[in-house]
Amino acid sequence: MVDSSLRPNLYQSTDRHAAIGVFDSGIGGLSVARHIRHRLAHESLLYFSDSGYAPYGDKSESAITERCFKIVDFFIAHQVKAIVVACNTATAAAIVQLRSHYPKLIIVGTEPGLKPALQMTQSKIVGVMATKSTLESQKFLTLKAQLSTESGTHFVCQACIGLVDQIERGELHSDASLDLVRSYVTPLLQRGADTIVLGCTHYPFVSHLIEQVICEYKGENETNSVKLIDTGEAVARRLRSLLEQAELDNPEQSTPQLTSWTTGRVDIVKNALTHAFLEQAISLTEYVTL
Ligand code: DGL
Repeated sequence: MVDSSLRPNLYQSTDRHAAIGVFDSGIGGLSVARHIRHRLAHESLLYFSDSGYAPYGDKSESAITERCFKIVDFFIAHQVKAIVVACNTATAAAIVQLRSHYPKLIIVGTEPGLKPALQMTQSKIVGVMATKSTLESQKFLTLKAQLSTESGTHFVCQACIGLVDQIERGELHSDASLDLVRSYVTPLLQRGADTIVLGCTHYPFVSHLIEQVICEYKGENETNSVKLIDTGEAVARRLRSLLEQAELDNPEQSTPQLTSWTTGRVDIVKNALTHAFLEQAISLTEYVTL
């Protein structure tokens, strides 16, 4: 358990050349790391895939928080200058406690892109795909209620149970994954959603399946009438702005490193790295127990 009575940890990095730690319950956070790599091309990244403990989405907030603290301490031992919680579920459960325990560390969270969805929707019906834990979190419920009232937009929420497991197994193209995606996306389309928020960082890995279901439902010519919102780009922008403010951005042109650890299967993380970065990333992936 995380003891909230502990004194704050005043760890702070002043090293512009230090790496950025990015973590998720599994490989999903690589969909965010990809945007970070694109926008902050000189930064070295450390990626932690907690696949041995995935999915987080059906765990209690205290169990998720405990995992987050272990991972952040691991990153601090590697002297990172910033941390990205590349997981909506972990952000909802733990970011408040993480920030209050490490007040001097840059910590960027990931939240379902409800606000960007408001800019896109014309039907004022927005579908939100996320884990059960994210959708039930107080953070999400408060934001949803506030935006609904302000904008008159209806958010149709869909807990996508089992989808993270499929992706963690590397089933990005299987019939079983397509069937599962169909069972979650079709009701959103039936309710009139013209914008779908990918409220879990794993889901961009199956955006092609989501698009296939939209195409089946709407017809080929109308596939573009439904927009998908992935928040990875917004997270990367936020990270860049915080690093610049703190004068911690790395101005060097040297080749950035990408190192990753997993509590699960190394081969799955390696495949996902190749898929996410579309390159043989200069990377090292190791199994670790934590
Ligand atoms: N990628 C995580 C998220 O964004 C998945 C959570 C899980 O492991 O259930 O929520």
